[in-house]
Amino acid sequence: MAEHTKVTVGVTGGVAAYKAVEVVRHLQDAGFDPHVVMTASAEKFLQPLTFSAITNHKVITSLWSEDAGAMGGELSGIEHINEAQTTAALIVVPATANILAKFAHGIADDFLTTMYLATTAPVIVAPAMNVAMWQHPATQANLATLRERGVTIVEPGSGYLACGMTGGGRLAEESAIVAAVAEVLAKHSSHTTNDLAGETLLVTAGGTREPIDPVRFIGNRSSGRMGYAIAQQARARGARVILVSAPTSLPAPEGVELLPVTTVEEMREAALKRLPEASMVVMAAAVSDYRVSEVSQQKLKRNGPRTLTLEPTADILREIVAARKPETLVVGFAAETENILDNGRAKLTRKGVDALVLNDVSGTTTGFDSERNAGWLLTVEETIELPESTKAVMADRILDKAVTLRSTRSHAAQS
Ligand code: CTP
Repeated sequence: MAEHTKVTVGVTGGVAAYKAVEVVRHLQDAGFDPHVVMTASAEKFLQPLTFSAITNHKVITSLWSEDAGAMGGELSGIEHINEAQTTAALIVVPATANILAKFAHGIADDFLTTMYLATTAPVIVAPAMNVAMWQHPATQANLATLRERGVTIVEPGSGYLACGMTGGGRLAEESAIVAAVAEVLAKHSSHTTNDLAGETLLVTAGGTREPIDPVRFIGNRSSGRMGYAIAQQARARGARVILVSAPTSLPAPEGVELLPVTTVEEMREAALKRLPEASMVVMAAAVSDYRVSEVSQQKLKRNGPRTLTLEPTADILREIVAARKPETLVVGFAAETENILDNGRAKLTRKGVDALVLNDVSGTTTGFDSERNAGWLLTVEETIELPESTKAVMADRILDKAVTLRSTRSHAAQS
Protein backbone atom coordinates (compact mmCIF):
# COMPACT_ATOMS: atom_id res chain seq x y z
CA MET A 1 0.00 0.00 0.00
CA ALA A 2 1.43 3.36 -1.01
CA GLU A 3 1.77 6.11 1.56
CA HIS A 4 -0.97 8.76 1.47
CA THR A 5 -3.53 6.43 -0.02
CA LYS A 6 -6.82 8.23 -0.64
CA VAL A 7 -9.71 6.89 1.42
CA THR A 8 -13.25 8.24 1.74
CA VAL A 9 -14.87 8.69 5.13
CA GLY A 10 -18.68 8.80 5.04
CA VAL A 11 -20.10 10.54 8.10
CA THR A 12 -23.75 9.92 8.93
CA GLY A 13 -26.09 11.55 11.41
CA GLY A 14 -25.56 10.01 14.80
CA VAL A 15 -24.46 11.50 18.08
CA ALA A 16 -21.12 9.73 17.59
CA ALA A 17 -20.51 11.87 14.47
CA TYR A 18 -18.04 14.00 16.42
CA LYS A 19 -15.86 10.93 16.89
CA ALA A 20 -15.40 10.80 13.10
CA VAL A 21 -13.12 13.83 13.51
CA GLU A 22 -10.71 11.76 15.61
CA VAL A 23 -10.95 8.85 13.19
CA VAL A 24 -10.00 11.17 10.31
CA ARG A 25 -6.99 12.41 12.28
CA HIS A 26 -5.90 8.87 13.16
CA LEU A 27 -6.19 7.90 9.49
CA GLN A 28 -3.90 10.80 8.61
CA ASP A 29 -1.42 9.71 11.29
CA ALA A 30 -1.48 6.24 9.78
CA GLY A 31 -0.45 7.71 6.40
CA PHE A 32 -3.84 7.91 4.66
CA ASP A 33 -5.32 10.86 2.80
CA PRO A 34 -8.95 10.96 3.98
CA HIS A 35 -11.67 12.74 1.99
CA VAL A 36 -15.01 13.28 3.72
CA VAL A 37 -18.59 12.83 2.54
CA MET A 38 -21.38 13.91 4.92
CA THR A 39 -25.04 12.99 4.81
CA ALA A 40 -27.66 15.70 5.37
CA SER A 41 -28.34 14.50 8.90
CA ALA A 42 -24.63 14.45 9.74
CA GLU A 43 -24.68 18.19 9.08
CA LYS A 44 -27.13 18.56 11.98
CA PHE A 45 -24.31 17.39 14.27
CA LEU A 46 -21.17 18.84 12.68
CA GLN A 47 -20.09 21.55 10.27
CA PRO A 48 -18.40 20.39 7.04
CA LEU A 49 -15.80 23.07 7.79
CA THR A 50 -14.43 20.95 10.66
CA PHE A 51 -13.47 18.22 8.20
CA SER A 52 -12.31 20.47 5.36
CA ALA A 53 -10.00 22.28 7.79
CA ILE A 54 -8.27 19.09 8.91
CA THR A 55 -8.25 17.23 5.59
CA ASN A 56 -7.50 20.18 3.31
CA HIS A 57 -10.15 18.82 0.95
CA LYS A 58 -13.65 20.09 0.31
CA VAL A 59 -16.32 18.03 2.00
CA ILE A 60 -19.04 16.56 -0.22
CA THR A 61 -22.47 17.11 1.27
CA SER A 62 -24.84 16.56 -1.62
CA LEU A 63 -25.26 14.69 -4.84
CA TRP A 64 -26.24 17.89 -6.58
CA SER A 65 -24.39 20.74 -4.95
CA GLU A 66 -21.42 22.42 -6.57
CA ASP A 67 -19.28 21.01 -3.77
CA ALA A 68 -19.45 17.66 -5.44
CA GLY A 69 -17.24 18.87 -8.27
CA ALA A 70 -14.53 19.95 -5.88
CA MET A 71 -12.94 16.57 -5.27
CA GLY A 72 -11.06 16.54 -8.53
CA GLY A 73 -13.72 15.59 -11.07
CA GLU A 74 -15.17 17.72 -13.80
CA LEU A 75 -18.89 17.13 -13.70
CA SER A 76 -20.65 17.32 -10.36
CA GLY A 77 -23.53 15.13 -11.58
CA ILE A 78 -21.28 12.08 -11.88
CA GLU A 79 -18.89 12.92 -9.07
CA HIS A 80 -20.03 9.97 -7.00
CA ILE A 81 -18.69 7.73 -9.79
CA ASN A 82 -15.36 9.55 -9.84
CA GLU A 83 -15.08 9.38 -6.05
CA ALA A 84 -16.12 5.73 -6.08
CA GLN A 85 -13.44 4.84 -8.62
CA THR A 86 -10.52 6.81 -7.19
CA THR A 87 -10.78 5.86 -3.54
CA ALA A 88 -8.99 2.91 -1.95
CA ALA A 89 -11.70 2.36 0.68
CA LEU A 90 -15.05 3.68 1.85
CA ILE A 91 -15.29 3.93 5.62
CA VAL A 92 -18.61 4.89 7.22
CA VAL A 93 -18.25 6.27 10.72
CA PRO A 94 -20.57 6.39 12.52
CA ALA A 95 -22.89 4.12 10.54
CA THR A 96 -26.49 4.65 11.67
CA ALA A 97 -29.22 2.00 11.46
CA ASN A 98 -30.61 4.02 8.56
CA ILE A 99 -27.44 3.94 6.43
CA LEU A 100 -27.00 0.20 7.08
CA ALA A 101 -30.57 -0.35 5.88
CA LYS A 102 -30.01 1.76 2.78
CA PHE A 103 -26.74 -0.02 1.92
CA ALA A 104 -28.32 -3.42 2.46
CA HIS A 105 -31.25 -2.59 0.19
CA GLY A 106 -29.41 -0.63 -2.47
CA ILE A 107 -31.26 2.62 -1.87
CA ALA A 108 -29.32 5.43 -3.55
CA ASP A 109 -30.85 8.76 -2.59
CA ASP A 110 -27.80 10.84 -1.65
CA PHE A 111 -24.09 11.03 -2.38
CA LEU A 112 -22.95 8.42 0.16
CA THR A 113 -25.52 5.77 -0.72
CA THR A 114 -24.96 6.33 -4.45
CA MET A 115 -21.21 6.10 -4.01
CA TYR A 116 -21.62 2.86 -2.06
CA LEU A 117 -23.34 1.28 -5.05
CA ALA A 118 -20.78 2.66 -7.48
CA THR A 119 -17.58 1.61 -5.73
CA THR A 120 -15.59 -1.59 -6.05
CA ALA A 121 -13.26 -0.49 -3.23
CA PRO A 122 -13.54 -2.30 0.11
CA VAL A 123 -16.24 -0.91 2.41
CA ILE A 124 -15.83 -0.69 6.18
CA VAL A 125 -18.67 0.38 8.46
CA ALA A 126 -18.45 1.31 12.14
CA PRO A 127 -22.02 1.21 13.48
CA ALA A 128 -23.18 3.34 16.41
CA MET A 129 -26.74 3.58 17.66
CA ASN A 130 -29.10 3.04 20.55
CA VAL A 131 -28.93 -0.48 22.02
CA ALA A 132 -32.51 -1.41 21.05
CA MET A 133 -31.93 -0.25 17.48
CA TRP A 134 -28.68 -2.22 17.39
CA GLN A 135 -30.34 -5.39 18.63
CA HIS A 136 -33.40 -5.04 16.40
CA PRO A 137 -33.73 -7.99 14.01
CA ALA A 138 -34.02 -5.57 11.07
CA THR A 139 -30.60 -4.04 11.85
CA GLN A 140 -29.04 -7.43 12.49
CA ALA A 141 -30.46 -8.78 9.21
CA ASN A 142 -29.07 -5.77 7.33
CA LEU A 143 -25.67 -6.34 8.92
CA ALA A 144 -25.76 -10.01 7.94
CA THR A 145 -26.54 -9.02 4.33
CA LEU A 146 -23.67 -6.53 4.26
CA ARG A 147 -21.26 -9.00 5.84
CA GLU A 148 -22.18 -11.57 3.25
CA ARG A 149 -21.36 -9.04 0.54
CA GLY A 150 -17.88 -8.54 1.95
CA VAL A 151 -18.46 -5.34 3.92
CA THR A 152 -16.24 -5.20 7.02
CA ILE A 153 -18.16 -4.39 10.19
CA VAL A 154 -16.16 -2.85 13.02
CA GLU A 155 -18.28 -4.15 15.86
CA PRO A 156 -19.51 -1.57 18.33
CA GLY A 157 -18.57 -1.94 21.96
CA SER A 158 -20.67 -1.81 25.07
CA GLY A 159 -20.89 1.16 27.33
CA TYR A 160 -22.76 4.31 28.19
CA LEU A 161 -24.83 5.51 25.21
CA ALA A 162 -25.98 9.02 24.41
CA CYS A 163 -29.60 7.92 24.87
CA GLY A 164 -28.85 7.38 28.55
CA MET A 165 -28.87 3.60 28.28
CA THR A 166 -25.96 1.27 28.74
CA GLY A 167 -25.35 -1.58 26.33
CA GLY A 168 -24.21 -2.53 22.83
CA GLY A 169 -24.18 0.07 20.05
CA ARG A 170 -21.34 2.29 21.20
CA LEU A 171 -18.98 3.26 18.37
CA ALA A 172 -15.79 1.15 18.35
CA GLU A 173 -12.56 2.80 19.51
CA GLU A 174 -11.00 5.10 16.90
CA SER A 175 -7.82 3.00 16.89
CA ALA A 176 -9.82 -0.17 16.19
CA ILE A 177 -11.50 1.51 13.20
CA VAL A 178 -8.17 2.68 11.76
CA ALA A 179 -6.63 -0.76 12.35
CA ALA A 180 -9.54 -2.37 10.47
CA VAL A 181 -9.00 -0.01 7.53
CA ALA A 182 -5.26 -0.75 7.42
CA GLU A 183 -5.92 -4.46 7.65
CA VAL A 184 -8.52 -4.56 4.91
CA LEU A 185 -6.28 -2.53 2.62
CA ALA A 186 -3.22 -4.65 3.33
CA LYS A 187 -5.17 -7.76 2.37
CA HIS A 188 -6.50 -6.04 -0.70
CA SER A 189 -3.11 -4.72 -1.80
CA SER A 190 -1.24 -7.96 -1.29
CA HIS A 191 -3.54 -9.51 -3.85
CA THR A 192 -3.04 -6.70 -6.31
CA THR A 193 0.59 -5.53 -6.06
CA ASN A 194 3.54 -7.40 -7.39
CA ASP A 195 6.09 -4.77 -6.48
CA LEU A 196 8.64 -7.26 -5.09
CA ALA A 197 8.78 -9.38 -8.25
CA GLY A 198 12.43 -10.03 -9.15
CA GLU A 199 13.63 -9.49 -5.55
CA THR A 200 15.06 -12.21 -3.31
CA LEU A 201 14.41 -11.66 0.38
CA LEU A 202 16.49 -13.33 3.05
CA VAL A 203 14.48 -13.23 6.28
CA THR A 204 15.50 -14.41 9.75
CA ALA A 205 12.77 -15.20 12.27
CA GLY A 206 12.07 -16.84 15.61
CA GLY A 207 14.06 -16.99 18.81
CA THR A 208 17.39 -18.83 18.85
CA ARG A 209 18.12 -21.47 21.47
CA GLU A 210 21.52 -21.94 23.11
CA PRO A 211 21.89 -25.29 24.83
CA ILE A 212 22.79 -25.59 28.50
CA ASP A 213 22.60 -29.36 28.55
CA PRO A 214 20.78 -31.96 26.40
CA VAL A 215 17.33 -30.79 27.58
CA ARG A 216 17.68 -27.15 28.59
CA PHE A 217 18.42 -24.02 26.66
CA ILE A 218 18.66 -20.23 26.84
CA GLY A 219 15.81 -18.89 24.76
CA ASN A 220 13.54 -15.88 24.49
CA ARG A 221 9.85 -15.03 24.09
CA SER A 222 9.91 -14.44 20.33
CA SER A 223 7.07 -16.29 18.58
CA GLY A 224 8.50 -15.76 15.09
CA ARG A 225 5.23 -14.16 13.93
CA MET A 226 6.77 -10.88 12.78
CA GLY A 227 9.42 -12.54 10.60
CA TYR A 228 6.89 -15.02 9.22
CA ALA A 229 4.53 -12.15 8.38
CA ILE A 230 7.35 -10.41 6.48
CA ALA A 231 8.10 -13.63 4.60
CA GLN A 232 4.44 -14.21 3.80
CA GLN A 233 3.67 -10.66 2.64
CA ALA A 234 6.89 -10.47 0.60
CA ARG A 235 5.94 -13.72 -1.12
CA ALA A 236 2.42 -12.38 -1.81
CA ARG A 237 4.02 -9.31 -3.38
CA GLY A 238 6.04 -11.43 -5.80
CA ALA A 239 9.41 -11.92 -4.05
CA ARG A 240 11.39 -15.12 -3.80
CA VAL A 241 11.81 -15.70 -0.06
CA ILE A 242 14.44 -17.62 1.93
CA LEU A 243 13.35 -17.87 5.56
CA VAL A 244 16.01 -18.84 8.10
CA SER A 245 13.94 -19.74 11.09
CA ALA A 246 14.82 -20.52 14.68
CA PRO A 247 12.22 -22.76 16.39
CA THR A 248 8.61 -21.49 16.31
CA SER A 249 5.22 -23.18 16.45
CA LEU A 250 4.15 -21.61 13.16
CA PRO A 251 3.38 -23.46 9.95
CA ALA A 252 5.79 -22.87 7.05
CA PRO A 253 4.46 -20.01 4.92
CA GLU A 254 3.37 -21.20 1.49
CA GLY A 255 5.81 -20.70 -1.38
CA VAL A 256 8.70 -19.79 0.93
CA GLU A 257 11.99 -21.72 1.24
CA LEU A 258 12.27 -22.57 4.94
CA LEU A 259 15.67 -23.28 6.51
CA PRO A 260 15.19 -24.43 10.12
CA VAL A 261 18.02 -23.64 12.55
CA THR A 262 18.35 -23.68 16.34
CA THR A 263 21.46 -21.89 17.58
CA VAL A 264 23.00 -18.51 16.72
CA GLU A 265 25.89 -20.27 14.99
CA GLU A 266 23.52 -22.29 12.80
CA MET A 267 21.56 -19.13 11.94
CA ARG A 268 24.80 -17.29 11.15
CA GLU A 269 26.03 -20.04 8.82
CA ALA A 270 22.72 -20.36 6.97
CA ALA A 271 22.25 -16.59 6.58
CA LEU A 272 25.80 -15.90 5.39
CA LYS A 273 25.67 -18.83 2.97
CA ARG A 274 22.51 -17.55 1.29
CA LEU A 275 23.39 -13.85 1.47
CA PRO A 276 24.88 -13.66 -2.06
CA GLU A 277 21.44 -14.47 -3.52
CA ALA A 278 19.62 -11.75 -1.55
CA SER A 279 18.65 -8.30 -2.77
CA MET A 280 17.00 -7.53 0.58
CA VAL A 281 17.70 -8.89 4.05
CA VAL A 282 15.25 -8.55 6.92
CA MET A 283 16.62 -9.72 10.28
CA ALA A 284 13.56 -10.17 12.44
CA ALA A 285 14.99 -13.00 14.56
CA ALA A 286 15.52 -12.52 18.27
CA VAL A 287 19.09 -13.70 18.49
CA SER A 288 20.74 -14.69 21.74
CA ASP A 289 23.61 -12.41 22.68
CA TYR A 290 25.24 -15.10 24.78
CA ARG A 291 25.82 -18.81 24.78
CA VAL A 292 26.97 -21.19 27.47
CA SER A 293 30.74 -21.60 27.33
CA GLU A 294 30.71 -25.26 28.22
CA VAL A 295 27.57 -27.15 27.30
CA SER A 296 27.11 -30.13 29.56
CA GLN A 297 26.89 -33.45 27.71
CA GLN A 298 24.76 -34.88 30.51
CA LYS A 299 21.60 -33.49 32.02
CA LEU A 300 22.61 -31.23 34.91
CA LYS A 301 21.47 -32.49 38.29
CA ARG A 302 20.04 -30.26 40.95
CA ASN A 303 22.97 -29.83 43.27
CA GLY A 304 23.03 -26.56 45.19
CA PRO A 305 23.74 -23.18 43.57
CA ARG A 306 25.27 -23.29 40.10
CA THR A 307 26.99 -20.69 37.95
CA LEU A 308 26.85 -20.79 34.17
CA THR A 309 29.64 -19.03 32.32
CA LEU A 310 28.38 -17.28 29.20
CA GLU A 311 30.29 -15.99 26.20
CA PRO A 312 29.06 -13.56 23.53
CA THR A 313 27.72 -14.96 20.28
CA ALA A 314 28.54 -13.60 16.84
CA ASP A 315 26.60 -10.50 15.76
CA ILE A 316 25.04 -11.91 12.62
CA LEU A 317 23.56 -8.60 11.51
CA ARG A 318 26.94 -6.87 11.59
CA GLU A 319 28.53 -9.68 9.59
CA ILE A 320 25.70 -9.48 7.05
CA VAL A 321 26.16 -5.71 6.68
CA ALA A 322 29.92 -6.17 6.20
CA ALA A 323 29.56 -8.98 3.65
CA ARG A 324 26.62 -7.74 1.55
CA LYS A 325 26.84 -6.51 -2.03
CA PRO A 326 26.49 -2.69 -2.13
CA GLU A 327 23.00 -2.85 -3.65
CA THR A 328 21.63 -5.29 -1.04
CA LEU A 329 19.30 -3.57 1.40
CA VAL A 330 19.50 -4.59 5.06
CA VAL A 331 16.70 -4.05 7.59
CA GLY A 332 17.37 -4.86 11.24
CA PHE A 333 15.03 -5.15 14.20
CA ALA A 334 15.55 -3.90 17.69
CA ALA A 335 13.63 -4.73 20.80
CA GLU A 336 13.99 -2.07 23.46
CA THR A 337 12.42 -1.50 26.85
CA GLU A 338 13.75 1.99 27.71
CA ASN A 339 14.93 5.19 25.90
CA ILE A 340 13.47 3.50 22.88
CA LEU A 341 13.99 6.09 20.15
CA ASP A 342 17.47 7.12 21.35
CA ASN A 343 18.67 3.54 21.72
CA GLY A 344 17.14 2.70 18.33
CA ARG A 345 18.89 5.54 16.53
CA ALA A 346 22.22 4.60 18.13
CA LYS A 347 21.69 0.99 17.06
CA LEU A 348 20.85 2.02 13.47
CA THR A 349 24.25 3.73 13.22
CA ARG A 350 26.17 1.07 15.14
CA LYS A 351 24.83 -1.77 13.03
CA GLY A 352 25.16 0.15 9.72
CA VAL A 353 21.74 -0.99 8.50
CA ASP A 354 19.54 0.87 5.99
CA ALA A 355 16.50 0.70 8.26
CA LEU A 356 15.72 -0.46 11.76
CA VAL A 357 12.32 -1.58 13.00
CA LEU A 358 12.02 -0.54 16.59
CA ASN A 359 9.71 -2.38 18.95
CA ASP A 360 8.77 -1.35 22.43
CA VAL A 361 8.66 -4.69 24.23
CA SER A 362 7.95 -3.29 27.66
CA GLY A 363 4.15 -3.60 27.13
CA THR A 364 2.07 -6.76 27.02
CA THR A 365 -0.37 -6.28 24.12
CA THR A 366 2.19 -5.80 21.36
CA GLY A 367 5.66 -7.02 20.48
CA PHE A 368 7.01 -10.37 21.63
CA ASP A 369 4.70 -13.34 21.52
CA SER A 370 1.69 -11.29 20.46
CA GLU A 371 -0.56 -11.09 17.40
CA ARG A 372 -0.17 -7.35 17.16
CA ASN A 373 2.73 -4.98 16.98
CA ALA A 374 3.57 -1.28 17.10
CA GLY A 375 6.77 0.72 16.87
CA TRP A 376 8.87 2.89 14.63
CA LEU A 377 10.79 2.46 11.43
CA LEU A 378 14.06 4.37 11.52
CA THR A 379 16.17 5.27 8.53
CA VAL A 380 19.07 7.70 8.47
CA GLU A 381 16.67 10.48 7.43
CA GLU A 382 13.33 9.49 8.92
CA THR A 383 11.49 8.30 12.01
CA ILE A 384 8.22 6.76 10.85
CA GLU A 385 5.62 5.72 13.39
CA LEU A 386 4.17 2.25 12.87
CA PRO A 387 0.77 2.43 14.60
CA GLU A 388 -0.56 -0.63 16.40
CA SER A 389 -1.77 -3.20 13.88
CA THR A 390 -1.58 -6.87 13.10
CA LYS A 391 1.88 -8.13 12.22
CA ALA A 392 0.73 -8.66 8.59
CA VAL A 393 -0.18 -4.99 8.25
CA MET A 394 3.08 -3.95 9.89
CA ALA A 395 5.01 -6.27 7.57
CA ASP A 396 3.43 -4.55 4.57
CA ARG A 397 4.37 -1.12 5.86
CA ILE A 398 7.98 -2.24 6.39
CA LEU A 399 8.06 -3.72 2.89
CA ASP A 400 6.59 -0.49 1.43
CA LYS A 401 9.54 1.42 2.84
CA ALA A 402 12.01 -1.29 1.83
CA VAL A 403 10.83 -0.97 -1.79
CA THR A 404 11.54 2.78 -1.77
CA LEU A 405 14.90 2.41 -0.03
CA ARG A 406 15.93 -0.43 -2.29
CA SER A 407 15.53 1.64 -5.45
CA THR A 408 17.66 4.41 -3.90
CA ARG A 409 20.33 1.89 -2.91
CA SER A 410 20.50 0.20 -6.32
CA HIS A 411 20.74 3.59 -8.08
CA ALA A 412 23.53 4.62 -5.72
CA ALA A 413 25.35 1.31 -6.31
CA GLN A 414 25.14 1.79 -10.08
CA SER A 415 26.43 5.35 -10.16
N1 CTP B 1 21.22 -9.63 15.98
C1 CTP B 1 22.10 -10.47 15.34
N2 CTP B 1 23.01 -11.21 16.04
C2 CTP B 1 23.07 -11.11 17.38
C3 CTP B 1 22.18 -10.24 18.07
C4 CTP B 1 21.27 -9.52 17.33
O1 CTP B 1 22.05 -10.56 14.12
N3 CTP B 1 23.95 -11.85 18.03
C5 CTP B 1 20.27 -8.85 15.19
C6 CTP B 1 18.80 -9.10 15.45
O2 CTP B 1 18.26 -10.06 14.55
C7 CTP B 1 18.18 -7.74 15.20
C8 CTP B 1 19.28 -6.78 15.57
O3 CTP B 1 20.49 -7.52 15.53
O4 CTP B 1 17.87 -7.53 13.83
C9 CTP B 1 19.17 -6.11 16.90
O5 CTP B 1 18.95 -7.02 17.93
P1 CTP B 1 18.99 -6.56 19.45
O6 CTP B 1 18.96 -7.78 20.31
O7 CTP B 1 17.99 -5.49 19.69
O8 CTP B 1 20.41 -5.85 19.49
P2 CTP B 1 21.78 -6.25 20.11
O9 CTP B 1 22.81 -6.22 19.03
O10 CTP B 1 21.67 -7.50 20.85
O11 CTP B 1 22.04 -4.99 21.05
P3 CTP B 1 21.80 -4.81 22.62
O12 CTP B 1 21.61 -6.16 23.22
O13 CTP B 1 23.05 -4.15 23.06
O14 CTP B 1 20.61 -3.92 22.75
